[in-house]
Amino acid sequence: MSETDYFVHESACVDQPCRIGKGTEIWHFSHVMKDAQIGRDCILGQNVHVAGGVVIGDNVKVQNNVSLYTGVVIENDVFLGPSCVLTNVTNPRSQVNRHDLYEKTVLRRGATIGANATVICGVELGKYCFVAAGAVVTGDVPGYALMVGVPARQRGWMSRHGVRLPEPDSDGIMVCPESGYRYKLAEQNLVACLDLDEDEPLPPDKAVGKVLSIGIREKSSM
Ligand SMILES: CC(C)(COP(=O)(O)OP(=O)(O)OC[C@H]1O[C@@H](n2cnc3c(N)ncnc32)[C@H](O)[C@@H]1OP(=O)(O)O)[C@@H](O)C(=O)NCCC(=O)NCCS
Repeated sequence: MSETDYFVHESACVDQPCRIGKGTEIWHFSHVMKDAQIGRDCILGQNVHVAGGVVIGDNVKVQNNVSLYTGVVIENDVFLGPSCVLTNVTNPRSQVNRHDLYEKTVLRRGATIGANATVICGVELGKYCFVAAGAVVTGDVPGYALMVGVPARQRGWMSRHGVRLPEPDSDGIMVCPESGYRYKLAEQNLVACLDLDEDEPLPPDKAVGKVLSIGIREKSSM
């Protein structure tokens, strides 16, 4: 792949060797270290740091002031809000070298981390989960779960469109008010979308937002 397949702002620093996919944009003052792996069509905003060994999938959006440390694995379509924090050592001490003990944190496809939220390392955040702004995640998060507060607690389910799902009906079905997609809440707190393969991209007509929040405020009424 040629270097021109992706964009690096002149103030950013990309150490080689590393892998950066086609269409990816790396903006002001960001730093990608050697041995990092970044997929296609990603956007790294201002002052983003990607350490060696970090793996980032396709279409990942990283907002300003985010540091991704060794041990972090980010799947496709993840959104990282501004100044959110992902850690890699649970019990850091300046005097104790734990470089061989970095813990793994996995963000599954489509997960959102809100602005200023913190994820304590060694956890897995499930597909399309949603971490509210300022939350502190201390354990594994189920797919589609909405996590709020410090420590983060689950406050319901969020659709793939980032809209809060209503209470399930008697069959465990929850319909997304924005997309109309049906989600089924099964045993063991597992949610799955019934109408679309979760690993497929959204169809174009479903990929443009129409509501602003889980409070379902229509754009037109603002
Ligand atoms: C969690 C979230 C999706 C809820 O959105 P919402 O539906 O508009 O929520 P509401 O404003 O109706 O708030 C519902 C309640 O949750 C509380 N709340 C909302 N967000 C919260 C948060 N991040 N942490 C703690 N409590 C929160 C509200 O205070 C309100 O409480 P109340 O009922 O006691 O008044 C949203 O607040 C959030 O954190 N989004 C992330 C934004 C972000 O980081 N964007 C980054 C891109 S710039």
